Amino acid sequence: MAVSLNVLENLKAAPDAERALANYRELASDYDASCSRIEALRLLAVRALRLQPGETVFDIACGTGPLLPLLARTVGSNGRVVGVEHSPEMATLARRRVERLRLGNHVSILQCPVEQLDSDLQADALLFCYAHDVLQSPAAIDRLIQRSRPGARIAMVGMKTLPWLWGWPVNCFNMYRARQYLTTYAGLDRPWRLLERRSAQLCEIDTALWGSAYLTVGRLAGTTTAYTQPEKETV
Ligand SMILES: C[S@@+](CC[C@H](N)C(=O)[O-])C[C@H]1O[C@@H](n2cnc3c(N)ncnc32)[C@H](O)[C@@H]1O
Repeated sequence: MAVSLNVLENLKAAPDAERALANYRELASDYDASCSRIEALRLLAVRALRLQPGETVFDIACGTGPLLPLLARTVGSNGRVVGVEHSPEMATLARRRVERLRLGNHVSILQCPVEQLDSDLQADALLFCYAHDVLQSPAAIDRLIQRSRPGARIAMVGMKTLPWLWGWPVNCFNMYRARQYLTTYAGLDRPWRLLERRSAQLCEIDTALWGSAYLTVGRLAGTTTAYTQPEKETV
């Protein structure tokens, strides 16, 4: 019953924060074990951000924080890593990871909806790993634009749909499989559309899982420097 409800509810056009919180209350304890097949893609996204020592990066919807150690090492102790996560259960696991691995004071977890992100820091770079609900929330995107430097770099990975004419079996399989990890199927054909509507320059540079996962990079509006696409890399 819970399964079919998730599929039907996900047909709504907007993310549902309450349902997401309820889903991740159940998913949190086994979350890391369930994500092995997306690890390589996540690493590609971090590399594509081309972080420099001393920079500030926001890991949007950081979940249990699997990328925090790599982000912390890359920006170094003079940089800042901010994980933003609204699920208390996921944020607790992220904080435990920070403590267990002694990542340092330059790594922090803000437990709040991205829509209410309040930080004195401004992001040089934004990372979205399987953060579909956030990407479909206009309020979240507007908040992130306010909290980032003009022209901040962006890298995102996640699930997307193939053209329905021939890709429908893969789409149906993936959408069913992902039913608890997101709360809206809206925007799956081009998950970064809301950012583009706000003049972000974005380019899909790689796909995986037969085209049903994407790596898209670029930058927010607000700089006159042209964006140079990174070389395609493999992990
Ligand atoms: C599929 S998980 C991805 C977690 C992590 N980025 C990763 O790569 O494993 C999606 C995460 O988004 C979080 N989330 C969803 N909507 C959110 C929002 N509006 N604000 C903050 N976190 C949100 C969920 O709680 C969940 O932890």
